[in-house]
Amino acid sequence: MIKKIAVIGTGVIGSGWIIRFLAHDKKVIAFDKDIRLKKKIILEIKRTWPYVKKLFNKKKLKLKNFKYVTSLKEALKDADFIQECAPENYKLKTKLMEIVGKYSKPNAIISSSSSGLLPSRIYSKCKNASRTIIAHPFNPVYMIPGVELVPGKKTKKNILNKANKFYKSISMNPIMVKKELPGYLSDRLQEALWREALHIVNEGYATTKDLDRAIEDGPGLRWSLMGTFLTFHLAGGKAGMKHMLEQFGPALKLPWTKLKAPKLSKKLSSRVIIGTRNQAKGKSVEKLSKIRDEYLVKLQKLRKKYEDKIRK
Ligand SMILES: NC(=O)c1ccc[n+]([C@@H]2O[C@H](COP(=O)([O-])OP(=O)(O)OC[C@H]3O[C@@H](n4cnc5c(N)ncnc54)[C@H](O)[C@@H]3O)[C@@H](O)[C@H]2O)c1
Repeated sequence: MIKKIAVIGTGVIGSGWIIRFLAHDKKVIAFDKDIRLKKKIILEIKRTWPYVKKLFNKKKLKLKNFKYVTSLKEALKDADFIQECAPENYKLKTKLMEIVGKYSKPNAIISSSSSGLLPSRIYSKCKNASRTIIAHPFNPVYMIPGVELVPGKKTKKNILNKANKFYKSISMNPIMVKKELPGYLSDRLQEALWREALHIVNEGYATTKDLDRAIEDGPGLRWSLMGTFLTFHLAGGKAGMKHMLEQFGPALKLPWTKLKAPKLSKKLSSRVIIGTRNQAKGKSVEKLSKIRDEYLVKLQKLRKKYEDKIRK
């Protein structure tokens, strides 16, 4: 049972984890190289509590479960689980993980919040690396449920399963990445979009605002409910992804992106078609479209309220 968690590095992501852990009645012991951050974190916990309370249906903030220490060793010594949130840098994280491995309990799980570094590299000097993983969250960590779990070459299956169970127990939806790759999943997707957007801006076709609106008023509205594959499945009409690929497959050869597309082989087509069919869980495109449309009405009404606050 994971009860006591050490959070190492209490910047943007570290403080987000602290808030989520506290909201789920975990004991948190935090450390940052910059000890002045203690005051800031208490303020952040109090600022976010009204939202966190609503989201997780909690009654009372238990600040007594939170301790801030000024030594890394002290933070690590009793922890069942370590959530590392130091800056994204191979040299820094590898050195830090060597120390974390040395001073933590031998069976404590070590989890890094890295956004895209390879676990096998950052844990290369860590003692007992079979208990190490990556858990890549999204900002703000206390609100967003997604987290990508990435194993290193030495990570044991039962550690991944334990971590999966643990993140589920704090109201998250872990995504299990099959094997390590730089940038993991969502950052690779975001990076592709980002690089394409930079090409467009660089070549003067649109402003950053135009490009943001192209997402906000288009695919972005659907994306919070359905990802690219399921969205395109619905765009293919009755035949779903099959028709979608027949119609837009040839576009993979058009200069619609600066990224090189893979060859749409039979194997790739059937992997994509079967994958989306499985995602649909037997529901027809019509049925899924109805659910999507119902959602979009509600979402847009809600969004309008918050959009006005940002744009006015
Ligand atoms: N910001 C994001 O949106 C985001 C999203 C997902 C994951 N991440 C990942 O989370 C990690 C932390 O990012 P962040 O945005 O919170 O950075 P940040 O700069 O806000 O915080 C990093 C903290 O680590 C502290 N630190 C530096 N060296 C340390 C050491 N040796 N020991 C202990 N603390 C140390 C710093 O004082 C700072 O407070 C990175 O790996 C990053 O890639 C960030």
